[in-house]
Amino acid sequence: MLNSIGGKILSGILRYNARNHINYYKDMVEKKTDTSESEDKKEITEDIVDAFEIRAISDKGIDYDKLITKFGSSKITPDLIERLEKVTGKPIHHYLRRGIFFSHRDLDKILTAYEKKEPFYLYTGRGPSNEALHLGHLIPFTFTKYLQDVFDVPLVIQLTDDEKYYHKPLELEDCRKYAIENIKDIIAVGFNPERTFIFRNTDYIDQLYPNSLKIAKHVTLNQIKGIFGFNDSDNAGKFSFPPLQAAPAFSTTFPQIFGDKDIPCLIPHAIDQDVYFRMTRDVAPRIGMKKPACIHSCFFPALQGLKSKMSGSIETSSIFSTDTPNQIKTKINKYAFSGGQDTLEKQRELGANLDIDVAYQFLRFFLEDEAEFLEIGRKYQKGELLTGEVKAKAINVIQKVVLTHQENRAKVTDEIIKDFMSRKKIDPLPAAFRK
Ligand code: TRP
Repeated sequence: MLNSIGGKILSGILRYNARNHINYYKDMVEKKTDTSESEDKKEITEDIVDAFEIRAISDKGIDYDKLITKFGSSKITPDLIERLEKVTGKPIHHYLRRGIFFSHRDLDKILTAYEKKEPFYLYTGRGPSNEALHLGHLIPFTFTKYLQDVFDVPLVIQLTDDEKYYHKPLELEDCRKYAIENIKDIIAVGFNPERTFIFRNTDYIDQLYPNSLKIAKHVTLNQIKGIFGFNDSDNAGKFSFPPLQAAPAFSTTFPQIFGDKDIPCLIPHAIDQDVYFRMTRDVAPRIGMKKPACIHSCFFPALQGLKSKMSGSIETSSIFSTDTPNQIKTKINKYAFSGGQDTLEKQRELGANLDIDVAYQFLRFFLEDEAEFLEIGRKYQKGELLTGEVKAKAINVIQKVVLTHQENRAKVTDEIIKDFMSRKKIDPLPAAFRK
């Protein structure tokens, strides 16, 4: 029985002609068909990374090099980073320097085109399943803001209220409401109002629809099952949704910005969303459009450690953008997994394991000062610093990040939201490319 289901899906996948990805799809099929309800409790023998689940086998978290091989993406090399710095003429973001954005597809092509003064645009998004974002959610947006600033390109941001409605036990009206709340957080990150369009799928569906039809016609049900792991008892909406996340990767979805031109797209996103964009890239040539480029981030660790990521539905795993300074302090002190030794004597003698230490990892994401960050790492590893001291630093840094975010969010008025969500004209060209 399992074999015959697996066999059918697999034959669809083989026809899919995604040669590099066959093993990956095969793994997904096996994983999803060969499991019982107790899947969560089962010991895993390999990291799991897809749009619906993330679990690592090691305390150090996901093996990202392995993931690059498995997904068939490319590593972001020091050369590529140097090139990006040269093309933009601006200092590179510490997320690149510290390997937080670590993988890509065709980023080099985007840079080559940009060097020739050919424009591109940015696309990212958020599934509104909750009122408040946690720190992990802010990572791709912060990075996208940096990209928008240094390249001066248009940006489109999708809120998939439809997706969350299909996937969560929520009413559609709740998803729509959460989308607006999330948009306030997104605007608070500081996007350029003249160059940014934010939309909710249920509002922008008239423009998403034509491209999503073309995409849907070129993906089979077998492929959707293989890529996303859905089965026959999943609601039909889940199967119909992926083309709607693919559509904004094609510039003709935004005629008010690009007219009917096929402008290349770069998508910054956490690596778990790669399933959507592998599908998008496979379909692109079949509908006569350019493949979008992607740049992938690793996960933001849960307070409990790097085996899982922060999750909005597990309160104690996360620091939320709405947390008070005191909540932040308590959560980090109480829950942040330590890579330090059990006793003071041992810590002084052996030092900490930075790879598994959550407070240190938080600093890797949020302490921008490179010299200070390196110094803390060096001292903590040698035992000159104690866990309590590193936690105190992390608390201080994160309290500041969250307070600044809250202040910026409080300034977002209904007028501002309306403007970001209006179908206004946006100049597709960076100012430096205009005549
Ligand atoms: N599916 C994503 C989520 O659940 C939301 C999303 C839509 C997205 N379009 C995107 C994320 C583009 C990254 C890039 O959060």
